[in-house]
Amino acid sequence: MTEEQLKSIQLPKHIGIIMDGNGRWAKQRGLERTEGHKAGAKTFRRICDYGADLGIEVMTFYAFSTENWRRPPKEVAAIMKLFKEYLEEATSRENENEMRGIRLQLIGEKKGLPDDIVKLLNALEKSSADKDVMTVNLAINYGGRDEILHAFKALGSKVKSGEINPDKQTEDDISANLFTAGQPDPDLIIRPSGEYRLSNFMTWQSAYSEFWFSDILWPDFTTDDLDTAILDYCRRNRRFGGV
Ligand code: IPE
Ligand code: IPE
Ligand code: MG
Repeated sequence: MTEEQLKSIQLPKHIGIIMDGNGRWAKQRGLERTEGHKAGAKTFRRICDYGADLGIEVMTFYAFSTENWRRPPKEVAAIMKLFKEYLEEATSRENENEMRGIRLQLIGEKKGLPDDIVKLLNALEKSSADKDVMTVNLAINYGGRDEILHAFKALGSKVKSGEINPDKQTEDDISANLFTAGQPDPDLIIRPSGEYRLSNFMTWQSAYSEFWFSDILWPDFTTDDLDTAILDYCRRNRRFGGV
């Protein structure tokens, strides 16, 4: 994106990306699915850094859903290994202060994830908590319905303890008990790979999101594609039910 373009538009505050199509990318090349995940992980790094350069406040990357545990154990293990490698790299870049002011946080259930990954995540969440260029939500072991259930339980226990009055609950109380508490809802949700569905992504938060679909497979997704999606988004007329 040119400086001029950037100046003339209002960037989405929060972009969500469903990083899909790794398996098909590998298949097209006669490679193992795992190779597609490796290529997808590289794309993630590029797009994440580019988002920070542009000045996006929050980016959410959907990397592993609560349903993805249904995949063959070998594939799941390979994906977990890639998460670990990324988190280790982020830890060392953080030490070298190369993370461009990126705050990292998990949205998803830590319970169920391998211990070494949880440890790395906890440390990174803590050490990057004061970074303010961009927040990156890593959606790992994430499900939109699971997140709502999580909020439902949290609110239920606050009702039980008398902390809140059930008759006075508002939509904001639900938002405040999601993993994305305090963040703006995603303005733009991008799904490559030719699928036209959310697959349990941001079920609550996507009520008024704009969608951008494309046939590009995630490993092939470029910074130019992100520009195209953002510029398309900027031409939309968001009415939120008004006129
Ligand atoms: C997305 O790519 C990565 C994960 C869901 C972990 P896929 O692995 O779903 O790729 P396709 O959809 O099979 O091409
Ligand atoms: C959605 O992709 C989840 C992630 C990209 C992490 P899937 O490949 O799991 O979605 P479905 O199964 O095609 O709906
Ligand atoms: Mg897929």
